[in-house]
Amino acid sequence: MIEIKKDSVELTLESNVVYDLPFLWLRDNCQCDECRITETEEKQFLLHTVPSDIRPKSVEEKNDNLIIHWPDSHKSIIPIKKILRSSSQRYPKKESWPEDFKPQKYYWNQFLELDSLAIKGLQDFVRYDVIILKNAPDESNSLELLAKRFGPIHETLFERIHNVSVTGQVYNVAHTSKGLPPHNDFASYLYQPNVQALHMLVNECEGGESVIVDGWEAAKDLKNKNPDFFEILSNFDVPFREFDDNNETYAEAPLIRCSPSGEIESFRFSNQLMQMINPIKKNVKKFYDAYHKLSEMMHSSKYRSKFRLNSGEVLIVASLRVLHARESFIPNGKRHLQDAYFFYDNAANNIVRLSKH
Ligand SMILES: [Fe+2]
Ligand SMILES: [Zn+2]
Repeated sequence: MIEIKKDSVELTLESNVVYDLPFLWLRDNCQCDECRITETEEKQFLLHTVPSDIRPKSVEEKNDNLIIHWPDSHKSIIPIKKILRSSSQRYPKKESWPEDFKPQKYYWNQFLELDSLAIKGLQDFVRYDVIILKNAPDESNSLELLAKRFGPIHETLFERIHNVSVTGQVYNVAHTSKGLPPHNDFASYLYQPNVQALHMLVNECEGGESVIVDGWEAAKDLKNKNPDFFEILSNFDVPFREFDDNNETYAEAPLIRCSPSGEIESFRFSNQLMQMINPIKKNVKKFYDAYHKLSEMMHSSKYRSKFRLNSGEVLIVASLRVLHARESFIPNGKRHLQDAYFFYDNAANNIVRLSKH
């Protein structure tokens, strides 16, 4: 059933689902060959070319299409199926980690060679924002091969693929045998890399267990229990810097960022890179009270999962949600880790692309 209201068309389906479709929405979504480039499915129609108070002359439902007649005699066609599809979920829903959570492991070869397994792995990755690949090659720069599933490497300053070992170049605490508290990399970029793969080429040292922390789960708890803390952490800019003789990165941003609908979108946390906050800034005390609470949560067992990353394993995290940490180790053997960044969008979209085959 169709009814033209004051500013919209009300469409009631047989299933009793009711859509309230604003006139401009209807005009903008016309699927005719004039309004779209047929081959690429791109929109060609420009919204500003019609008046903002545009109103249909008549609307009818024909062969499961909405047919709209406009005053300028343009005839729009919108398949109802297409309207229905717009509310379907593109990716798996985000899920909290179950108790005693350990990341799901997939064989490196199978993940790269079998599409069906890659889909499963990527779906898992989107749900929990972490997976592990096992039996990966022990050759340097093998992370390049992950491009097949995660898209091309997202390069940053320093190295394209970072080497982390105690014998390498020391530009941060990771290159020592000290423990590394939970953090995500490059908090010193306004747009931090959002996927990080950590490839353990060899791990013969005692200790050095890997720890991951669900930053979003902690942020959600904070939002429920201490809304004032949550509020300040999502509004207060914090400075971060990472540098060496040849490189300089610096950004000021809040620790928590939300989407317009209030969903947590990204989490920024790095004790090691955080810089002195200008003490004359407003709300420094309020920030520190909240930051103390958040730091406590980052070290609480409730949000973390701990395991040993063995030689030949690659830990992959969506790093705007999942922080990584490492316990201290005894440098009594070889320990060589390489890491690189990727784009989350490329990983998630591969679920859709691979599912089409
Ligand atoms: Fe790191
Ligand atoms: Zn059209």
